[in-house]
Amino acid sequence: MLKSLLPMSLLWARRGRRTSQPEMRIPGYTLHEELGRGGTAVVYNASHKGKACAIKLMKANPDADASARMGREIKLMRQLSHSGIVGLKDWGEVQGQVYMVMEKVDGETLRNCLMSRRLTRPEALRYCEQLLEALSYAHSQEVMHRDLKPENLMVQRDGRLRLLDFGFSRNVHQNTFQTLDSSVAGTPAYMAPERLMCINTPASDQYSAGLIVYEMLTGEPAVPAGLDMSAVITKQLQETPPSPGTLDPSLPGWVDALVMKLLAKRPEDRFSSAQAALDFLRGYSEYFTLQP
Ligand SMILES: Nc1ncnc2c1ncn2[C@@H]1O[C@H](COP(=O)(O)OP(=O)(O)O)[C@@H](O)[C@H]1O
Ligand SMILES: [Mg+2]
Repeated sequence: MLKSLLPMSLLWARRGRRTSQPEMRIPGYTLHEELGRGGTAVVYNASHKGKACAIKLMKANPDADASARMGREIKLMRQLSHSGIVGLKDWGEVQGQVYMVMEKVDGETLRNCLMSRRLTRPEALRYCEQLLEALSYAHSQEVMHRDLKPENLMVQRDGRLRLLDFGFSRNVHQNTFQTLDSSVAGTPAYMAPERLMCINTPASDQYSAGLIVYEMLTGEPAVPAGLDMSAVITKQLQETPPSPGTLDPSLPGWVDALVMKLLAKRPEDRFSSAQAALDFLRGYSEYFTLQP
C-alpha cells in the first residue's frame, strides 16, 4: 500500500557497526549516525539536499505487526502539523520494511534531561504547558498518543518540547480491543489504569502526562523504576502517589491540584479534555512565565 504511494527505489547496504540492522540506502538521503532507539525502531541522523533530517527504521527482522505499526504511525502523523509535534517529511518501504523521514530534533530526550539534572519549577510548568498544547492539538485531530513518556519527548536546544513516536497511537473513534498478555500497547509505568483494562479514551493521555509532570516537578517517577510488572500494574490500578505538594510544601496548591487531577484513577475524574487542563494551567501562567 505504502509502496504504491512512493515511487522511490531503495537499496540495502551493509555499513556501520552500531546496530545489527543493515543500513538503508535511500536515493537522495544520506544516513549518518544513530540518534536513538526505542522498543521497536532505530532513528538515524540523515541528510537530504544538504538539510538535516531523522530517519526511523524498524529494528532488524521486523514482524508484520511492527511494519503495520509504522504504517499506522505514518498515517496518523500525516494528519498532524504542530510546533510541539515532530513533523513527518517523507516515508517509504523497501523489501517489506517501512521507514519514515522526520524533522530532526536538535536536543535530547526528556528522559536524558531528567537523568542529568533537576528541572526548575518554572521549566517543569512550561514543559507541562507545551505538552498539554501538543496533546490538545493531537486530540482535536482525533489522535490519541497512547505512549507518552519521557523517552518520547525531546527538549530542543531552544527550550521547546517536541512530542514524537506515534507508533502506538490510534484514532479516537477506532475501537481497539486488546488482550493483556499480547497487545496492551505502550509502557505500563506511564499507562492509565483504564488502558490496562483495555479501555481506550483520550483521557488516558492526560494520566500519562500527569506522570511526566509529576516526575518533572519532583525529580522522581511516581511509579518507581525497577518494579516488576505486577507491582507496576497494582500501582497504576490502585495506588495514588503522594502528591507533589506533600513532597515539597512550597509548591502552590494549584500545581498540586493540576497534577492530581491529571492522575485521577477514573478518566471521568480528570479534566474534561487536555484543552481544559491547559486552560486551567494558563490561568496561572503569570506564575511560571515570569520566573527563570
Ligand atoms: N525526529 C527525531 N529527531 C531526533 N531524535 C529522534 C527523533 N525521533 C526519534 N529520535 C530518537 O530516537 C529514539 C527512538 O525513537 P522512537 O520514535 O521513540 O522509536 P520507538 O518507536 O522504537 O520507541 C527517541 O527516544 C529519540 O531519542
Ligand atoms: Mg519511543
